[in-house]
Amino acid sequence: MGVPLGASLLLCCCLGLSRGSPLLLFANRRDVRMVDAGGSKLESVVVSGLEDAAAVDFHYSQGIIYWTDISEESIKETVYNQSGNLQNVVISGLVSPDGLACDWIGKKLYWTDSETNRIEVANLNGTYRNVLFWQDLDQPRAIALDPAHGYMYWTDWGEAPRIERAGMDGSTRKIIVDSDIYWPNGLTVDLEEQKLYWADAKLSFIHRANLDGSFRYYFILFF
Ligand SMILES: *[C@@H]1O[C@H](CO)[C@@H](O)[C@H](O)[C@H]1NC(C)=O
Ligand SMILES: *[C@@H]1O[C@H](CO)[C@@H](O)[C@H](O)[C@H]1NC(C)=O
Repeated sequence: MGVPLGASLLLCCCLGLSRGSPLLLFANRRDVRMVDAGGSKLESVVVSGLEDAAAVDFHYSQGIIYWTDISEESIKETVYNQSGNLQNVVISGLVSPDGLACDWIGKKLYWTDSETNRIEVANLNGTYRNVLFWQDLDQPRAIALDPAHGYMYWTDWGEAPRIERAGMDGSTRKIIVDSDIYWPNGLTVDLEEQKLYWADAKLSFIHRANLDGSFRYYFILFF
């Protein structure tokens, strides 16, 4: 569809890291790469030989990388310095898992699926799986968490493009952005500043707003 998939994921991981060295992690279809953004710009392939890696997230304290594979219709994990040792986390009931987020506080994985039109949650090992949302979803894509405050955010780039917010338990669902938004394919929460960032692949802009969608403005133009 001509959407810069990698760019959106880069955004997620770059801005989502709130402590430690600025580490960029992004899925590049055939591999997951890591870039040290702290100046050295050293890029390394963390996991290779993949089919079609789409979304990626990182468990900070345990150093575990989680990603979705669209071709294999699965969610997998690896410890970041032990590449080669890949584990399946979820291998059933997925079709197009385009978004993934790790709740390192509650020890859960959240993901979107733009084909089944679901947002689901499970333990980090894939057990205790639960469908949180299955109605009024069209093309759910990026998902981001604010575990300290118990909120989840996701983009939907279907017929009525929007960003929604809900409690991480599935409560209090609310549309927070639904105007001047087209292909929102990347989303992240700046946990320290309590701001929401999203990339719009049609507008080629990154937007920033408060966590309720207010006070938004164009942040950066990207290519
Ligand atoms: C991998 O990282 C973990 C946690 O940072 C560390 O304890 C372990 O020694 C590392 N293993 C290797 C093979 O470097
Ligand atoms: C999966 O994780 C949960 C929560 O941490 C744990 O209780 C359960 O024993 C784990 N199951 C397997 C099969 O590892």
